[in-house]
Amino acid sequence: MPTVSPYSESFERVLAAGAILVNIGDIDILLEHILTEARFFTNADAGSIYTVEGDVLSFRHSQNDTMTSRGKRIPYTRFTIPKTKSSMAGYVACTGEILNIDDVRKISGEAPYSFDDSYDRISYYRTISTLTLPLINNRHAVVGILQLINAKADQREFIPFQSPMELFGKYYATLGALALERAMMTRTLLMRMVRMTEFRDPKETGPHVNRVGSYSVAIYDSWAKAHKIQDSDRTHNRDILRMAAMLHDLGKTGISDSILKKPDKLTAEERSTMENHCSIGAEVLQNCESTFDEMARDIALSHHENWDGSGYPNGLKGEEIPFMARITSIADVFDALSSKRAYKEPWTDSRVNDEMEKLFKNKFDPNLRDHFISQLEALREIKESYPEE
Ligand SMILES: [Fe+2]
Ligand SMILES: [Fe+2]
Repeated sequence: MPTVSPYSESFERVLAAGAILVNIGDIDILLEHILTEARFFTNADAGSIYTVEGDVLSFRHSQNDTMTSRGKRIPYTRFTIPKTKSSMAGYVACTGEILNIDDVRKISGEAPYSFDDSYDRISYYRTISTLTLPLINNRHAVVGILQLINAKADQREFIPFQSPMELFGKYYATLGALALERAMMTRTLLMRMVRMTEFRDPKETGPHVNRVGSYSVAIYDSWAKAHKIQDSDRTHNRDILRMAAMLHDLGKTGISDSILKKPDKLTAEERSTMENHCSIGAEVLQNCESTFDEMARDIALSHHENWDGSGYPNGLKGEEIPFMARITSIADVFDALSSKRAYKEPWTDSRVNDEMEKLFKNKFDPNLRDHFISQLEALREIKESYPEE
């Protein structure tokens, strides 16, 4: 009778996970997904993922089951570390080698890298074993670093990562690197489109659209979990929403400077011209060929519609307004209130909360109110991680 390898489940999962990667277009959703899957098949308690940007590593995402089970949220944060051999991630980025360490506290003093325990100290966590893998593209350049922390033998005990995991990890990291390169290209193209909008309307900055994209995903995620949306659908929707929400004001490229940059109040006629940015955006995104195109078009057209029917351009009411446009509208207004604009300072948190509360009575979908509130802390962390340049 053929024996079943203890790793066959991991192997199958790696193969299935690789196939999903090619369908994810947004870089942030992709990095989160790569980390989730890699942790699953290596049975890692925690992990982090970085992208290589010039001579620094940019920390993009982290997960930690122990902290989550203690009721602690993993902060949404961004920072960079130098790409040098003195850190484990930096060493892997510089050399392209896999680093499998059984106990980070027993790293030889002769190794060029050492373990930085500052994260453990602030989070009361204990890192023991790590598996750090390079994401290498087809031009042999390291484009990202995947760091898996504390392989689990059972719920309590942490053990070293077994060597077959290195192999699975290496294979998965290769697929991840290809998907990452494509997602980086997509993000660059999207940001170029946003940059064109920014030339016309200085409010529509790169950080603003990134925040709106991330807020929208956080609100959707809360709603999707509460409605038990299947994981594969949730990942797909998060992916395309992250990108589609960024293009909400694409139509402003078709509005003249004399209106967009007018310091005074707009006349009624100018306001109605300005409101055309929704239809112009929808026109640019017409001939929908994919669910992304369709969602981007819905959002561009309907992000100024109001739940009570008082919005524009079509005066849609309630559930007539496409769902993702209802979400993006909340994200866009929240960002406008809480950010500095040419005509105002950022509002205080409590003033923003009061105003949003009011707007949930007529402008926003009241069914999304609790999801928005449950994500407020995360939204404020997202805001910090995309400051205006
Ligand atoms: Fe708009
Ligand atoms: Fe906006």
